[in-house]
Amino acid sequence: MRIVSIGGGPAGLYFSLLMKKSDPAHDITVVERNRPDDTFGFGVVFSDATLEHVAEADRQSHAEITSHFAHWDRIDIHYRGQVLTSAGHGFAGMSRQVLLDILQKRCAELGVRLEFQREVGDLGAYADADLVLGADGVNSVVRSRYAEHFRPEIDWRPNKFVWLGTTFPYPAFTFLFKESEHGLWRVHAYRYDQSMSTFILETTEATWRRAGLDRADEDQTLAFCERLFADELQGHRLLKNRSLWRSFPTVRNGSWRHGHIVLVGDAAHTAHFSIGSGTKLAIEDAIALARALTSHGEVEKALAAYEEDRRPEVERLQRAAQVSLEWFEQAERYHARLEPNQFAMSLLTRSLRVTHQNLRTRDPRFVATVDRWYASRAEQQARITASMPSPPPMFTPFRLREMLLSNRIVVSPMCQYSAQDGTPGDWHLVNLGSRAVGGAALVIAEMTDVSREGRITPGCTGMYKPEHVSAWKRVVDFVHAASPARIALQLAHAGRKGSTRLLWEGMDEPLPAGNWPLISASALPYHPYSQVPKAMDREDMTRVRDQFADAARMAEQAGFDMLELHMAHGYLLASFISPLTNIRTDEYGGSAANRARYPLEVFDAVRAVWPAAKPMSVKISASDWAEGGLDLDEAVHFARRLREHGCDIVTVSTGQTVPDQKPQYGRLYQTPFSDRIRGEAEIATMTVGGIASYDDVNSILAAGRADLCVLARGHLYDPYWTRHAAYEQGFDLPWPDQYVSVKGFSPREGLT
Ligand SMILES: Cc1cc2nc3c(=O)[nH]c(=O)nc-3n(C[C@H](O)[C@H](O)[C@H](O)COP(=O)(O)OP(=O)(O)OC[C@H]3O[C@@H](n4cnc5c(N)ncnc54)[C@H](O)[C@@H]3O)c2cc1C
Ligand SMILES: Cc1cc2nc3c(=O)[nH]c(=O)nc-3n(C[C@H](O)[C@H](O)[C@H](O)COP(=O)(O)O)c2cc1C
Repeated sequence: MRIVSIGGGPAGLYFSLLMKKSDPAHDITVVERNRPDDTFGFGVVFSDATLEHVAEADRQSHAEITSHFAHWDRIDIHYRGQVLTSAGHGFAGMSRQVLLDILQKRCAELGVRLEFQREVGDLGAYADADLVLGADGVNSVVRSRYAEHFRPEIDWRPNKFVWLGTTFPYPAFTFLFKESEHGLWRVHAYRYDQSMSTFILETTEATWRRAGLDRADEDQTLAFCERLFADELQGHRLLKNRSLWRSFPTVRNGSWRHGHIVLVGDAAHTAHFSIGSGTKLAIEDAIALARALTSHGEVEKALAAYEEDRRPEVERLQRAAQVSLEWFEQAERYHARLEPNQFAMSLLTRSLRVTHQNLRTRDPRFVATVDRWYASRAEQQARITASMPSPPPMFTPFRLREMLLSNRIVVSPMCQYSAQDGTPGDWHLVNLGSRAVGGAALVIAEMTDVSREGRITPGCTGMYKPEHVSAWKRVVDFVHAASPARIALQLAHAGRKGSTRLLWEGMDEPLPAGNWPLISASALPYHPYSQVPKAMDREDMTRVRDQFADAARMAEQAGFDMLELHMAHGYLLASFISPLTNIRTDEYGGSAANRARYPLEVFDAVRAVWPAAKPMSVKISASDWAEGGLDLDEAVHFARRLREHGCDIVTVSTGQTVPDQKPQYGRLYQTPFSDRIRGEAEIATMTVGGIASYDDVNSILAAGRADLCVLARGHLYDPYWTRHAAYEQGFDLPWPDQYVSVKGFSPREGLT
């Protein structure tokens, strides 16, 4: 086979040596524009897992590579005068030039033709090759030449970074955060041989411009950085090597192959340097491509198999890299606000791949320190003294006004569609009662409507008739008598999403008969075929506001500990907030401030009658997941307004505003919204959505992404979710007297 690799970086060289090794008859040429010893960049990082693949693919280069490794296992985080250390992370660094030397030497030994100082512009010369490799890096000419086939998407990130070296031998993978008069600077530094380290400096464009670096050449950049980090470098120098300020491009391609041409490494995809995976991906691509060509005779089939094999893994890594790069882009938010232990947890768990439990396995001492700190903060916040030395974060207390929660788990409000004209019955008693006994600290009763016309379905609960008070009181009294749990009521009006069928008969589908008239912010139906609601006039607004206040008074009579106002999921109050459902031209429509006006008016009316000692939460949809809809900036602004109006905590949900939404569901899919609102609106948050493990709960809390974790479906699946999490963590959660015998029982794993 005649193979040409355009580019002699790690991907091109490693692929070429593997192919030549598998069949010396292959005629392989690597065309590289640089000289063999042009050092571009400093060190690269490998994880232990990548090394196993390299060892299997070619023992000889593996032996040489590993003999040049600088190993480290610690991550040091320099933050506000402290160094926080987390151990147990297996990494190795090496000089990029040494890596290229080894691969070039091995290629030459095996008979790969290496043509240096040849810049490829026209690919016509390689038309008769059996395989052309686009291994020409992030600015690939191969990708550009066949852009209509590869369909590249390049996402230029806003931050600025420069790749420097230093003689300071960093003993650990080091993240350094430093504030100057210009702003916040982040450093990613690691040692790659006995005496040298990579030193990547990153900052926002605004800080970079304020520091005048947009006009700086390499020497001025170096001088600036040496001055800025004079203390940290302890007399060591920084080194330049084509050290130009850049923006990071995340490269994705619709396809990685076209006929006999294939993209590998950075030409095909990039992953931000903060997860140190570019060289790993390039080498793994080379291994997968060589394997595919060896097992499939035909080039086109092999290229298809290669892409099918690699794409899921690459996309997974790119998703992690995306979260990671966003964390660094937004580091100002965390830096200004989080205490050192929480800042470290937020940084280490930023891509959600590393969790509280993973960190505990790697470094129990580090996690014990974080847990101790978390527990002591929780006790201060809850105004209590310690019950246990340091429980896992999920079993720490939390106070909202005079309501003290014994842990951080909340049962999400979930409509049961089982009420009679709004009156909850036995089902509600058992459903909510068993979840309170199950160990959650707070149970939020389902969306309960402030009027008959405000119901979603004929089966929804209400708080608009005197008998509702006694029916709810029965549930509340049981929860209080049978458990330490607190119970909240979620008050709502369905707005344009009302008069629909029970969940299992067709969610959001209009009733076949017996409909009632609907009201909303604007006269826009939910589905094109749904009932058109009346746009509320001032009289409607006053009436509904007063119904909310009346319902709040009744909730107090029933004994609820907290109220949540439902301003999410496209129901009445949410319909005012979203520009997709509010097209009013009066003072309740238009600007974000106008759209917030009526929901805040309702909030004020409820807050005025709800006892001052009892807290209130509001559930919001922080994004509509739809073009032209509410975005997170507006949600942050709204949460800030809620705080100013006396809201104690915001439940951060998303979507369900319009039927053609495009949500990105997944594990913890709404937690990043909570993280941002908690940080920027400076209000406590409950996060909900895709939380299924206690490990996620501990990670979220310790990293400061929310104050409480709310599970909906998890609690349908397992009413005793909190008890089971306590058992698995060895935490002693007292059982009710009736159940004390369970103490002698050991469940067997995997047999349920
Ligand atoms: C600041 C920074 C820090 C990084 N840190 C790390 C890290 O810690 N760990 C890590 O694993 N990765 C890191 N990377 C990424 C890593 O450098 C790349 O992901 C990796 O080198 C990709 O290998 P490649 O072979 O695909 O491309 P490259 O290494 O870019 O090789 C492409 C080669 O093609 C040549 N070429 C390009 N165009 C032509 C042409 N027209 N004709 C001939 N030759 C051409 C280039 O000269 C180059 O030698 C970092 C990148 C940056 C920018
Ligand atoms: C059956 C069911 C009923 C729901 N009813 C409500 C409700 O009454 N009020 C509300 O705010 N959210 C309601 N939701 C949404 C959940 O409270 C929660 O926000 C969502 O399911 C995401 O959490 P999860 O991934 O833990 O299920 C409901 C969800 C389900 C599954």
